[in-house]
Amino acid sequence: MVWKWWWMLTVTAIGVVAWGVPSEQQRLVTRIAFGSCANQSAPQPIWNAIISFDPQVFIWLGDNIYGDIRRPFKLFGKERTIGPWKNAPRFVPSTEQEMKSRYEKAKSNPGYSRLQENTKVIGTWDDHDYGLNDAGKEFSGKITNQRLLLDFLDEPENSPRRKQDGVYASYTLGPMGRQIKVILLDTRYHRDPLRSDGTILGHSQWEWLEKELNDSPTAVTIIGSSIQVISNLSATTGPLFYMESWGRFPKERDRLFKLIADSKRDGVFFISGDVHFGEITRYDCATGYPLYDVTSSGITQAVEKVVPPPLHFFVRFLAWLTPNTMRVMDQNCRYRSCTYGMSNFGAVEIDWDATPVTLKIQVRDINGNPVTGVTTSLSELQARNSTSSTTKKAREHHRHCSLESTLPWIVRYRLAILAYCAVATFVLALIGVIWASILACRRCARKRKCD
Ligand SMILES: *[C@@H]1O[C@H](CO)[C@@H](O)[C@H](O)[C@H]1NC(C)=O
Ligand SMILES: *[C@@H]1O[C@H](CO)[C@@H](O)[C@H](O)[C@H]1NC(C)=O
Ligand SMILES: *[C@@H]1O[C@H](CO)[C@@H](O)[C@H](O)[C@H]1NC(C)=O
Repeated sequence: MVWKWWWMLTVTAIGVVAWGVPSEQQRLVTRIAFGSCANQSAPQPIWNAIISFDPQVFIWLGDNIYGDIRRPFKLFGKERTIGPWKNAPRFVPSTEQEMKSRYEKAKSNPGYSRLQENTKVIGTWDDHDYGLNDAGKEFSGKITNQRLLLDFLDEPENSPRRKQDGVYASYTLGPMGRQIKVILLDTRYHRDPLRSDGTILGHSQWEWLEKELNDSPTAVTIIGSSIQVISNLSATTGPLFYMESWGRFPKERDRLFKLIADSKRDGVFFISGDVHFGEITRYDCATGYPLYDVTSSGITQAVEKVVPPPLHFFVRFLAWLTPNTMRVMDQNCRYRSCTYGMSNFGAVEIDWDATPVTLKIQVRDINGNPVTGVTTSLSELQARNSTSSTTKKAREHHRHCSLESTLPWIVRYRLAILAYCAVATFVLALIGVIWASILACRRCARKRKCD
């Protein structure tokens, strides 16, 4: 009979040990970092700041490497990549071997390697690691490149994520009552062409997302989308240029908002990348509470870096001048535009011990200092809350409820008007100079004849 006691004791001991050691799922998560747009061939010093933030989880939001090949701008010659007479694509996919070697380079970056030692890394993709600039479902390299991304993320060989069409995934972290759900979307694999107002997620991913959102509640739900969800920059930068975003697919965007509202899920917010600057936007008319979208882009790619330092102020001026209705503008920003155009990363902090529990969402610079941020309590992100009635809040609410496309045209198109006026002034000045020179030459010639 002794062996039976021994057996029971052993089983109990194993049970106690297994129960006492918190599994990964149960460990409390208080800090999450995220980022996007990392050129594997460029120095990536920002990892030091990310490591100092000491996140338990890091989320890649796409363009984790630049996998495609960018051809130079060429107006003339045999291969012309811009202008109405262009005959060659500006971007072409690279070979599997080349993609692999770029991923290896990214993965062996010393800063990133150090981060991986203590931090769980998860992620999704955007166009350049999907394999081609602005590509969607038509891109033929997607099956191979799905495998390469999942290898980069150390996804287990037997993971169901390797068998599905697309890289979407969800994670539930932390102990009961203090759980965080992270939903990562795939905005590439099933996406219809731009301007089609078709689908972004595709049928199977929509079904999956609906199930995920209606699954058991969590205190916080972070939805990661490579492209921006709330801001529709194109509405105010067009017809000068257009960006990719959920706004370009209005039906699909409404469907997403309705799904979140119908799920009555509390504490939902978005994180996004893609645009090469950082900002926080907010939409108040989707669910019963403000829906934030924290955009961080990029780890290396940033709008101000493409111009020489003396012109950085001009980029910031243009960012400030660009009309918007969703951006969170307050005194907490480093610049008046409340955008940030140098290297940056996203930082999410949750103080579970505060009453009520507080959520701090920020974009941080290369030194780890915040450049824009919002602090809110989880109780303000609750579906059952009706909107507040104090005047200041009501005014804010009104602002963050108006789509960019409802702005008066003079405001909405001021960037384009300014640009076209500048071009027109330049052309007129040029014509004036040419005209004046011709007149001067004629007079000169006449004078010589007379002499
Ligand atoms: C990445 O960085 C390298 C080295 O600085 C540069 O040559 C290349 O053009 C960059 N690629 C992109 C997409 O910016
Ligand atoms: C976003 O802007 C584009 C371009 O102006 C427009 O076609 C689209 O309808 C806008 N989307 C929303 C949701 O306002
Ligand atoms: C939402 O409800 C909670 C608890 O009832 C309250 O503390 C909080 O201030 C409310 N937030 C808003 C925005 O009305």
